[in-house]
Amino acid sequence: ATGMAAVFSTFAALLKSGDHIVSARSVFGSTHALFMNYFPKWNITTSYFDVNEPETIESFITPNTKILYAETPTNPAVDIIDLELLGTIAKKHNLILVIDNCFATPYLQQPIKYGAHLVIHSATKLIDGQGRVLGGITVGNADLIREIYLFSRNTGPALSPFNAWILSKSLETLAVRVDKHCDNALKVAEFLESHPNVNWVKYPFLKSHPQYEVAKKQMKLGGNIVAFEVKGGIDGGRKFLNAIKMCSLAANLGDTRTIVTHPSSTTHSKLSEADRLQVSITDGLVRISVGLEHIDDIISDLKQALEH
Ligand SMILES: Cc1ncc(COP(=O)(O)O)c(C=O)c1O
Repeated sequence: ATGMAAVFSTFAALLKSGDHIVSARSVFGSTHALFMNYFPKWNITTSYFDVNEPETIESFITPNTKILYAETPTNPAVDIIDLELLGTIAKKHNLILVIDNCFATPYLQQPIKYGAHLVIHSATKLIDGQGRVLGGITVGNADLIREIYLFSRNTGPALSPFNAWILSKSLETLAVRVDKHCDNALKVAEFLESHPNVNWVKYPFLKSHPQYEVAKKQMKLGGNIVAFEVKGGIDGGRKFLNAIKMCSLAANLGDTRTIVTHPSSTTHSKLSEADRLQVSITDGLVRISVGLEHIDDIISDLKQALEH
């Protein structure tokens, strides 16, 4: 099982031909692929709203809309969506509100408090937190979970018993690990904000984040993902990445080790620039999944790469 198995099973168990989803445009790439490449084969359609225009959400709702879906914070741009607002809209239109809580973990944010019916986690990320196993979880309303459970039992995306045991051990240290991740991430964000080779930094608990107040309302701490734009566009991003020495260069996140990703030259390089910009991926955007190393080591690696 994986986070994507949890996402797929949730939709597949609850939707039928003709149903419609309203989702934030900024969703994980494979979730976007489900919405655009696979669900239309079964006559399930999706409309996207812009995370920075929440006032437009209701205009996408039709009589066939069944699920309202979002991730917050978003991947990779670390935008924040107001869960209370989503909860109110879902209630008013009788929709099932599903939140992918991957970046926040259940320790930092509990969407059910704001009206979510179901919450999905990729346990591959901070819940395992040590890059050892893949896993996915959906929690929430018991009647809905029963449907998803029956679907999963019949179709096979089960968690292996050994991985389930590893993840149950990981949960015992989740709070201490995530506290430290967040402490390091805030320091990295503050360092980057003060660096002349950086255009801007986005981190939920930086006062400069456009949705800082919403983040403070719904999150305990800011999480471990920092997004920033290095000066010099695609080449600037590539140069920065090539100069990194200690941090890992990978597409994973939520590991004990700090991981640096440059989406426009790696994970999202197949998208056109216009498509990348629609989900806030500028050429110089770098995503850092801040790990548990000593903060001085993380900052000195980022500093030497920025000044290379
Ligand atoms: C927000 C989000 N949701 C879901 C997933 C999918 O998780 P998994 O890799 O466990 O399938 C990811 C993976 O990066 C993610 O970032």
